[in-house]
Amino acid sequence: MSTQFRSLMAAFPTGVAVVTAFDLDDTPWGMTVSSLSSVSLDPPTLLVCLRDTSPTLDAVVRNGSFTVNLLHHEARAAAELFSSGDPDRFRQVAWARPESVGGPHLVDAAHAAADCEVDHMHRTGTHVVVFGRVARVVHRSASQPLLYGLRQYASWPQIA
Ligand SMILES: Cc1cc2nc3c(=O)[nH]c(=O)nc-3n(C[C@H](O)[C@H](O)[C@H](O)COP(=O)(O)O)c2cc1C
Repeated sequence: MSTQFRSLMAAFPTGVAVVTAFDLDDTPWGMTVSSLSSVSLDPPTLLVCLRDTSPTLDAVVRNGSFTVNLLHHEARAAAELFSSGDPDRFRQVAWARPESVGGPHLVDAAHAAADCEVDHMHRTGTHVVVFGRVARVVHRSASQPLLYGLRQYASWPQIA
C-alpha cells in the first residue's frame, strides 16, 4: 500500500515551499514541503505536515511560530538544498529575519512568505500536522511558482 500511496500522491501536483523556524538558541532550521494547504479564511489559517523526527519540526514546536516561504520557478536549487538534510543549509542561501513572529525569509528563493503562529498540532502516523495562524504575508515578486509533481520539478506553462 505504501508504494501505491506514494504513486497516488505523486500524481497530485503541488507548489513547493520551505518551512522555516528559529530554535530557542536562534539556530535557523528549514525544510522543503509540498503538504501546504489552506484551512480557514477567518481566521486565516494554513497547515503543513512535517515528519515527526525533523529538527525543523522541533524548532517550530519550541518557538511556537514559523514561516512558509513559497518558492519561485527559478528556486529549484533551494528546494533541493532544503530537502537534502544538509546541516549547513542557511550558509548557502540569502535569508532575512521576519518582522515579528516566524522563521527566516528566503529573500532570493521565495516569491512570497507567510509568518505564522502555531495554533495547534495533530500527530498522525509518521507526521505532525501543524496548523498555523497567519500573522503576516509578504509578496516579494511576481515570479511564477515552482511546481512539483510526478516526482519532478516543473514551471507553470507560459500562457499566450
Ligand atoms: C518536493 C518535496 C516536498 C516535500 N514535502 C514534504 C512535506 O510536506 N513534509 C515532510 O515532512 N517532508 C517533505 N519532504 C521531505 C523533506 O524536505 C526532507 O525530508 C528534509 O530533509 C527534511 O528536513 P529536516 O532534515 O530538517 O527534517 C519533501 C521533499 C521534497 C523534495
